[in-house]
Amino acid sequence: MAHHLLEGKKGLIFGALDESSIAWKVAEAAHAEGARMVLTNAPVALRMGKIQQLGEALQAPIIPADVSNQEDIKNLWEKTLEHFGGPVDFVLHSVGMSPNVRKKRPYYDLKYDWLHKTLDISAISLHRILQEAWHMDALAEKASVVALSYIAAQRAFPSYNDMAEAKALLESIVRSFGYHYGKRKGVRINAVSQSPTPTTAGTGVPGFDTFLAYAEKNSPVGNATAEDCARFCVMLFSDYTEKLTMQTLFHDGGFSMTGISEDLMDIFSAAHDTE
Ligand SMILES: NC(=O)c1ccc[n+]([C@@H]2O[C@H](COP(=O)([O-])OP(=O)(O)OC[C@H]3O[C@@H](n4cnc5c(N)ncnc54)[C@H](O)[C@@H]3O)[C@@H](O)[C@H]2O)c1
Repeated sequence: MAHHLLEGKKGLIFGALDESSIAWKVAEAAHAEGARMVLTNAPVALRMGKIQQLGEALQAPIIPADVSNQEDIKNLWEKTLEHFGGPVDFVLHSVGMSPNVRKKRPYYDLKYDWLHKTLDISAISLHRILQEAWHMDALAEKASVVALSYIAAQRAFPSYNDMAEAKALLESIVRSFGYHYGKRKGVRINAVSQSPTPTTAGTGVPGFDTFLAYAEKNSPVGNATAEDCARFCVMLFSDYTEKLTMQTLFHDGGFSMTGISEDLMDIFSAAHDTE
């Protein structure tokens, strides 16, 4: 059920690859609430993914940009400003990629040029996007920027590998740029630390199914789905959250605040009884 929360707002959405992508669901939810959007993804994702379908459904132009390429980001902002005829009201950063994870290098045997790539694509890209926006004055007064994160920024999840470093850096950029852009234009910047979610990036993490099942059992209200995340992002883009900024918001069904649930205790005691 839509509430016209984003009526008249203009947004830029990074990272919709296919229907399972969190960014895809966010774009659909924002559209249902009345927003107009520009969609962007890496040139390779435009060839391999299904973003054209989403663009047609939402009547949103698609502008290619590799987030690790400053020229691409500059061009993306220029075209976006031209399309809307003015600055944007919200941005979703929903981008992550680690060559070390993809190529199954363990954390204690990383390739450092791949680590640089992980950090560049998954975290420094947020800085690139905001810095370019700053110079071009591409964000409207009180605009809202949301970046997607994961609790491996705070706690050890071994198979999440160097993406943990990327998320810690991403959350730091959220705070640091949140300060500067807040002072300059009342722009708010937050990270949403989301439950494990079955997407292309999510399922690429070794042991993803176990992450998902464990988080489900250890979250009093259950894992947050991509659709749940989309509704939360709509709220963050809306005028109802103008004083919320520089935060990491755990959108995880209570996982981050639960030590151990009774469900997990039951599983372990059943296993113990059968020993
Ligand atoms: N799926 C999960 O379990 C989960 C949990 C918490 C946070 N997140 C975060 O959510 C975000 C979105 O991921 P998702 O789970 O929807 O998976 P996804 O695979 O659908 O999205 C990742 C996106 O990053 C894009 N991307 C990769 N390299 C790029 C580049 N160089 N330039 C531009 N775009 C590039 C991909 O094309 C893709 O669209 C990521 O930041 C991810 O870390 C995911």
